[in-house]
Amino acid sequence: MDRYAVVGNPIKHSLSPQIHTQFASETGQSLEYLALELDNDHFEEQIRQLIVSGYKGVNVTVPFKEKAWAMTDRLSPRAKDAGAVNTLIFQQDGQIAGDNTDGIGLTRDMITNHKILIRHRKVLVLGAGGAVRGVLGPLLSQKPELLTIANRTLERAETLVDQFTESYLESTDLNACAYQELGRDKFDLIINGTSAGLNNEVPPLPDDILGINSICYDMMYNTRQPTAFVKWAQERGALRAFDGLGMLVEQAAEAFFIWRGVRPDTTQLMTDLRKHPA
Ligand code: ATR
Repeated sequence: MDRYAVVGNPIKHSLSPQIHTQFASETGQSLEYLALELDNDHFEEQIRQLIVSGYKGVNVTVPFKEKAWAMTDRLSPRAKDAGAVNTLIFQQDGQIAGDNTDGIGLTRDMITNHKILIRHRKVLVLGAGGAVRGVLGPLLSQKPELLTIANRTLERAETLVDQFTESYLESTDLNACAYQELGRDKFDLIINGTSAGLNNEVPPLPDDILGINSICYDMMYNTRQPTAFVKWAQERGALRAFDGLGMLVEQAAEAFFIWRGVRPDTTQLMTDLRKHPA
C-alpha cells in the first residue's frame, strides 16, 4: 500500500489524516496516510528516511514549509513564488519535487465553494508572513482591482509588494500599509492571514472598513466555534464571513490530485468535518 503523511511539529491535532483517508475511500485509492511529528533539528534527515521506507509523498505544515522548500530538487512555479512547500512528491527517479497548494486551496474555496468574486474587487489582506506569501500569487492571478497588504510590521508587507508587483502590474494596484493607515477605503473582501487568532486576537482594524456587501475570510479555522476574526466580522455586519476549513480541505484535495491523479469531491467531507469535529 502506498504511504503518505503530514509532517509538522506539533501535529497531534491535524485533520489531514482524516481528510486524506476519506478522499482515498471516496476515490477507491489504496493508500495509508499518517501524521508524523518531526524533530526541528533533523527535518531533512527524517524526510530522507521516509523516502527510504517507501513513502511516496508528504504534506508539510508548520514549522517546516520553508525547510521543505529548501531541500527540493525541483519546484513548481507556485511553490517558487510562495517561498514555501506544503506538498512533497518523492519521485521514482529519486528526486524530490515540491509544490504549494495553499493558494489554490484558498481561491478554490472562495470561488468554487462560496461563489466569492475576486476579479475587479478591492481586497485587503491582513498579515505579511509565510501564510500570506503562500497565497498571494493565486489571489493576484484572479486580477482584483486593488490588493492592499496591511501588517503590524510595515516592512514585511512592503517586501511582499516588491516581490509580486512586477508580475501583476497590469491587472492590480498592489500596495502595503500599516493598520493605522486603514479607514479611508472600504474593501469588498478582507482576508485574515495573520496568526493573531492563535491568541484569540484580531488585528487592530477600524470598524468602518466594511461596506454593506463586504465579505470576510479567515485563513484560520475552528470546527467547533467561530474564529476570533469571523466573530469580529459578524459583529460588524459583514455580508458573509468564512473560516479556512474549506481552504484546508481544498489544499488537501489538490495535493491528493498531484499524488494520485484523481480529484476527490470535497463537499460531503466539509459537512462531515463540521458535524463531527475531531
Ligand atoms: P505564518 O507562517 O503563520 O504567516 P509568520 O511568518 O510568523 O507566520 O507571520 C505571522 C503574521 O501574523 C505576521 O504578519 C504577524 O505580523 P508581524 O509581521 O508584524 O509580526 C501577524 N501577527 C501575529 N500576531 C498578530 C497580532 N496579535 N496582531 C496583528 N498581527 C499579528
